[in-house]
Amino acid sequence: MSLRLKTLVLDKIRLHYEDKRAAVNNITNFYVSYKHNKSNFLVQMSSKIYHKKNGVKYKDTECKPDVLEAYIDRDIFIENVLNKTSPDQSAKTCPMNIVIDFSSPNIAKPFHAGHLRSTIIGNFIANISKYFKNRVTKINYLGDWGTQFGILQYGLQNKNIDLDELKNDPIKILYNIYVDTNKQALTDASVLEKARKYFSDIEQGNSDLGNWRKIKEVTIKELQKVYERLGINFDDYHWESDYNSRAINTLLDSLEGQNIIESDGMGKKIVRVRDKTVTILKSDNSTLYLSRDLAALLDRYEKYKFDKMLYVVDNAQTDHFAVLFDIMKRINQNCADGCQHIKFGRIKGMSTRTGNVVFLNDILDEAKKKMHDKQEKSKNTRSSAMNDQTCDTLGTTAVIINDLKQRRQKDYVFEWDKVLQSEGDSGIKLQYLHCRLWSLEKNCGLTVPDVCEPKLLTEEVVGEVVAELAKFENILYRAHIEYEACILVNYLFRLAKPINRMFNELRIKNVDSDLGAQRLLVFHSARLVVKTGLEILGVKPLYEM
Ligand code: ARG
Repeated sequence: MSLRLKTLVLDKIRLHYEDKRAAVNNITNFYVSYKHNKSNFLVQMSSKIYHKKNGVKYKDTECKPDVLEAYIDRDIFIENVLNKTSPDQSAKTCPMNIVIDFSSPNIAKPFHAGHLRSTIIGNFIANISKYFKNRVTKINYLGDWGTQFGILQYGLQNKNIDLDELKNDPIKILYNIYVDTNKQALTDASVLEKARKYFSDIEQGNSDLGNWRKIKEVTIKELQKVYERLGINFDDYHWESDYNSRAINTLLDSLEGQNIIESDGMGKKIVRVRDKTVTILKSDNSTLYLSRDLAALLDRYEKYKFDKMLYVVDNAQTDHFAVLFDIMKRINQNCADGCQHIKFGRIKGMSTRTGNVVFLNDILDEAKKKMHDKQEKSKNTRSSAMNDQTCDTLGTTAVIINDLKQRRQKDYVFEWDKVLQSEGDSGIKLQYLHCRLWSLEKNCGLTVPDVCEPKLLTEEVVGEVVAELAKFENILYRAHIEYEACILVNYLFRLAKPINRMFNELRIKNVDSDLGAQRLLVFHSARLVVKTGLEILGVKPLYEM
């Protein structure tokens, strides 16, 4: 659906639509609000019918209209948009019970760029789903199972690591142990053998989980610190180990009961799906990533009774989720129908001073440090705003917006210079816009009026700002149904243009106070849209920088 305002004329606003349904919806919305007040609201509505041939548009009465024009009374339009001080949420709500699995890093392995994208995109989807009044449950499904954890366990024992040491920076310590032991395993086959055995023993319950609980605890604590920095929280932390071979009986019962699972004759349990044979249980009865995901999915369906189960995971796992959903279709069609893999492309070239391995904290630290240097150099910086918190927020904003402005499925190259630029389309620019709008509101000495008086708002630039503001709900709706944050990010960049023009062209101070107040109302409405937009994107709006 798209609503485009092509031209603005002073006494009328001409709306130009690409899609007839969107046009009718929009116009009806306006019309319905004003049907009791039948003043010449809908001045004219005409549908121009075009036919596209070789890129040239021909008039053709036979085909569906692809352009529809309507003229709306400018005053009523402006009044309508500005009189609702908070963005309208009543128009489109679609309450559903949505569960989102995102971030979901692995213990002992670093939080890589893919997890960063999952975290940022997943949080956006959660926020926008909540905005449209859905019930949202955010799950972080941590990887803590599989042979690599046997390796980690072997390393922990071998190196005699005291778990209390893990309190400072457990993620890095565990990762280093994992890397060292893995290297050892490459040259010494017995290490891998022992690690496998270790894992299989804990999975079969022949050896107790011992330190696992402690490791999980410190890991969550550490992760929470980073999530807090990003303003993200989860409703539930789940573990792959919750679905070990002793815990997946419900799954096996369903698979066996419905004759979906077979033995391969060599001790493995397999399922045939998508012309492939996939293993569900290995010959030593240990589980795989897929079997754990199947069991977890059944469990979630039972627990949350979701309408939608969204997995925010990179493109590389496309096959995994296709197989997961296909098998689930045979076990429980309704459950499978709600599932969707929200895929995203790779980030290339993300690294920090500490090397190529990405630890989220390092990325955020680096962003903060770079922002600090930049702020210090800039003559525009307010000294009161040169604090740690502001630099941290600016750094995270830059990283988040840089990610969300890309189409989700596209791979992109991470370049610090682009991320932190204050010109061009960056998060810094959006924060700056919000601060500038706030500072105007705070320092102009006027109060935002309750009622809009469109007769005072005659300038063309006001029409352009209001025309952009009017699209906000539609933009959010599209961003929501397509799970595409870039629709919202790019809208905010576009909105910034007429707002900045309005800053340059119209004054608030030293003009008649009623006029100043009406202009302030336009700036204020614009600020609320920028603020709401940033919050949905997962960014904390700044008030001073
Ligand atoms: N831990 C996995 C990884 O890092 C991602 C998990 C995604 N969620 C899931 N239910 N499979 O690759």
